[in-house]
Amino acid sequence: MVYPILLVIHNAFRWLVLGSLLATLGSSYSGWLWPRSYRSVDQTLRIAATSIVHTQLLLGFYLYFLSPIVSYYWHFSPDSSQSPEFRFFSLIHIGLMFTSVIILTVGSSLAKRQTNAQQKFKTTAIYFTVGLILILIAIPWPFSPLASRPWSRTF
Ligand code: HEM
Repeated sequence: MVYPILLVIHNAFRWLVLGSLLATLGSSYSGWLWPRSYRSVDQTLRIAATSIVHTQLLLGFYLYFLSPIVSYYWHFSPDSSQSPEFRFFSLIHIGLMFTSVIILTVGSSLAKRQTNAQQKFKTTAIYFTVGLILILIAIPWPFSPLASRPWSRTF
């Protein structure tokens, strides 16, 4: 019962993750390319994006322990050439997403400590670009050859 609900939430939460990262990148690239002061809205966007990503990480961990796909993989080690989805969700998705969350967290806390506005924008722009690219690679888009999942789900 919890599993399908969590799947709907984890699916929808991906759009919040992407939206918040894009908004933070918009603010950081604009501040980096056209120098200005680091405003509270820039900080709010950066902190909100990091918190949203952390929440998705927690939802993901919960889902990982409930997922029949993951448990099948660890019990039976199915041949990934026949069905790459088992390996994708059990190793690749979690690995890339976890790496990305670490990069985003490190970038956000480095930017927080920096005092120069230009430096804060630059650090956020670089770390968040790398983090977003990893997330985009690891999302099971409907067109992905590794694992394809719907754009959205309903209860
Ligand atoms: C942080 C960014 C993340 C994003 C944007 C993301 C996004 C997604 C999306 C869109 C799906 C497809 C959901 C569906 O079938 O409708 C999915 C599935 C899944 N995610 Fe994530 N995810 C993230 C992190 C994680 C992490 C860190 C874990 C594990 C710790 C994880 C575990 C899973 C599992 C196990 C599934 C498949 C569940 C199943 O079909 O049984 N996710 N994720």
